[in-house]
Amino acid sequence: MKLAVIGTGYVGLVSGVCFSDLGNQVICVDNNPLKVEILERGEVPIYEPGLKELIDKNKAAGRLSFSYDTKSAVEASDIVLLAVGTPSLPNGEANLSYIEQAAKDVAEALNGFKIIATKSTVPVGTNEHIERIVSEHTNFPFSIASIPEFLREGSAIQDTFNPDRIVLGCLDQETLNTLIELHKPLTSNIITTDIRSAEMIKYASNAFLATKISFINEIANICEKVGADVTRVAEGMGYDQRIGSSFLQAGIGYGGSCFPKDTEALIQIAGNVDYEFKLLKSVVEVNKDQRFNIIRKLQEALGSLQGKNIAIWGLAFKPETDDIRDAPAIEIIEELIKLGANVKAYDPVATANFKLKVNHSSIKWCDNALETASQSDALCLLTEWSEFTRIDLVQLASLMARPILIDGRNVYDPIKVKEASFIYYSVGRPHSANISDSYAEAMS
Ligand code: UDX
Repeated sequence: MKLAVIGTGYVGLVSGVCFSDLGNQVICVDNNPLKVEILERGEVPIYEPGLKELIDKNKAAGRLSFSYDTKSAVEASDIVLLAVGTPSLPNGEANLSYIEQAAKDVAEALNGFKIIATKSTVPVGTNEHIERIVSEHTNFPFSIASIPEFLREGSAIQDTFNPDRIVLGCLDQETLNTLIELHKPLTSNIITTDIRSAEMIKYASNAFLATKISFINEIANICEKVGADVTRVAEGMGYDQRIGSSFLQAGIGYGGSCFPKDTEALIQIAGNVDYEFKLLKSVVEVNKDQRFNIIRKLQEALGSLQGKNIAIWGLAFKPETDDIRDAPAIEIIEELIKLGANVKAYDPVATANFKLKVNHSSIKWCDNALETASQSDALCLLTEWSEFTRIDLVQLASLMARPILIDGRNVYDPIKVKEASFIYYSVGRPHSANISDSYAEAMS
């Protein structure tokens, strides 16, 4: 099939590239000529494992191209996928201006019947709004559909080729048949539904996953007070198939381009129809506070942070991405600076992006993990990159001015860390001073 994908962010670029790899003819469009130039040169504007190789392969096969000309891309296609951003407005509502502009541009480019399917996460009713915009700007026939995207950054290609489900929301059988055909090479559960339900599935899924994370983080906070270990609690819960084991990793809370934005947007969507989504409001509140536990633990270990040298490992909101949108590291580092600490920071790929967001004379940017930790009064691990988990703990402790380790992602074994002479705090597990012989025995 012939596809035009409007928007080359995570969703648009990865979807477009993967659809081309499945044998379709794909033109990825972006209104930023610089981005298109970068892609045309064979570079990739985001860090996503495997993406460059897949782009090179499909460009070489003549199935994938990039353009900033919506008109020619739409004219050459049967299906148009809208994948532009829907960032948050100050009140939490989704900003639909990019999607509205894209709908208008596509409408003006129509030269015959096309399916216009939305992949962006959009509030319920938006596809009908898109339908109105397109109708106002064209006389050509078209049909609309909502096909929300569930890929995760860092494993986006794997997720696109092996989705847990494909949601197809549309109005007529012919459109549905075409979309089923497009997705046929992907063996997955296909959910066919009306457009409003498809739009809601995306928000409800993200809100539920965010709820799981805030839930386990609160359990972790209680575990710290009662002397239990949240990793064992999550394991014990996860075997119950009704609960499931994923998204029960306690830590410093969720970040990224989706959960924070989509939870706020769903609260607004509910509010707009006079419904107060109390549960989700609490989820958001818990998440906002969870990251500051890092600061509280540092203060417990060091007292005042004024003039202290604090090392930070990990700036991205999760491993395998250079995305720092709503990364907990942003507020943690800003708070450290406010409290007078000197910060040394390192991330394997996200430093350049982070510097654009937070730059201050009391931050020293480092090139590797050990240099960052050297001579510091405490080390905080904020993103669980695998290189941090492989580090020699004894060597690490010997490099630091004080061997204080605050593990925001529970990546280390508390007993091994204690053996390396660290004062160790993690999330929802006994901290080193409280590791009793009976706990060590039970864990061994
Ligand atoms: C998420 C959804 O998973 C995806 O389906 C949707 O399309 C976009 O939003 P993404 O933001 O890329 O994907 O990452 P994800 O792996 O879901 O992690 C989101 C955040 O939750 C990260 O900050 C991560 O560290 C945190 N998280 C995740 C936890 O704190 N604990 C967990 O158990 C899982």
